[in-house]
Amino acid sequence: MKITDKLGRTINYLRLSVTDRCNMRCFYCMPQEGIVSKGHDAILSYEELQLIAETAVELGIEKMRITGGEPLVRSGTIPFLERLARIDGLRHLVLTTNGLRLPDMALPLHQAGVQRLNVSLDSLNSETFAAVTRGGDLNKVLHGLDAAEQAGFPPPKINVVIMRGINDGEILDFADLTLSRGNTVRFIEYMPAVKDEEWQRYCISGDEILQRISTRHTLKQVDKGPIAGPSKDFRIPGARGSIGIITAVSGHFCVECNRIRVTSTGQAKGCLFSDAATDLMPYLRPPDRDGLASILRTLIIDKPEKHGISQDGYKHKNFTMSQVGG
Ligand code: GTP
Ligand code: 5AD
Ligand code: SF4
Repeated sequence: MKITDKLGRTINYLRLSVTDRCNMRCFYCMPQEGIVSKGHDAILSYEELQLIAETAVELGIEKMRITGGEPLVRSGTIPFLERLARIDGLRHLVLTTNGLRLPDMALPLHQAGVQRLNVSLDSLNSETFAAVTRGGDLNKVLHGLDAAEQAGFPPPKINVVIMRGINDGEILDFADLTLSRGNTVRFIEYMPAVKDEEWQRYCISGDEILQRISTRHTLKQVDKGPIAGPSKDFRIPGARGSIGIITAVSGHFCVECNRIRVTSTGQAKGCLFSDAATDLMPYLRPPDRDGLASILRTLIIDKPEKHGISQDGYKHKNFTMSQVGG
């Protein structure tokens, strides 16, 4: 089955957040003190998340990305993922992680049926990495990347949020990883997701990133994979991995958007930056499959046309990335 929104966009990708907790504190994602932890009851159980997943697949979702916070800090993830992998009609089960727990969890994740991993990594310098993540250990993430490949995953895609004055000096080093390690690297424009009146000072456009890489390498645009996310992809000739830019601020990709999101507290969102969220709790406690299908269908059909962030104007609202899962 295929489902389209009222603007004709096919919606086939669900980002399902299983927790808003994280074992790091990236400054652009979470406040220093973390977020006020939701009571146990406010977080969806795995049974409830599975009901959402099954219902979404019945409606036409073919790709599911498990997100957080950091999805691997929640216990019981592996059996949950095994159950998701068995849902008939779900073609792609993928996960975005900060990589810290991959040394222990890559193999069980692979065995559970997760097909690909995206790993967030904002610096190859341990001090800068610790500053961005407020204490994270770069070596653990690098071990996590190795562990993923040893477990049988294709080289994970590396997500780098590029921030002027913080890690923009590493753009070429990250581009070189596509040659040396063979990972695909996606450069993400910094988005305003924590309260900061001067967030624009960090922004570097995707165009500028490509320009800087072009000073050393030739870049050839390449096709996106199936049911791809928002990145525009290029390749340095001879590199195993590609280079992507995710122009969340400078170049909106909303006309091609194919996704909805559900948070770990059961809030469904048609757009990362929309204020509106649909509370799924009334259809989960007690479970009401038909009601859930109907409310998700409405959310998809009424998906907002686009978000309102640009380099000028946007004032941060009441949400953090860790709650929505990016
Ligand atoms: P693939 O499925 O591998 O292409 O991954 P993806 O890019 O869809 O997902 P990932 O979790 O790796 O996210 C990469 C970056 O893209 C993160 O910074 C996300 O916040 C951002 N992103 C993903 N979807 C959207 C979206 O719909 N809108 C905006 N503005 N950013 C998005
Ligand atoms: N701007 C851009 N990307 C962000 N992410 C989290 N917060 C932001 C932000 N403010 C990214 C993470 C992760 C993905 C899920 O979202 O780095 O790779
Ligand atoms: Fe954790 Fe990812 Fe947010 Fe960093 S960006 S605090 S690793 S959820």
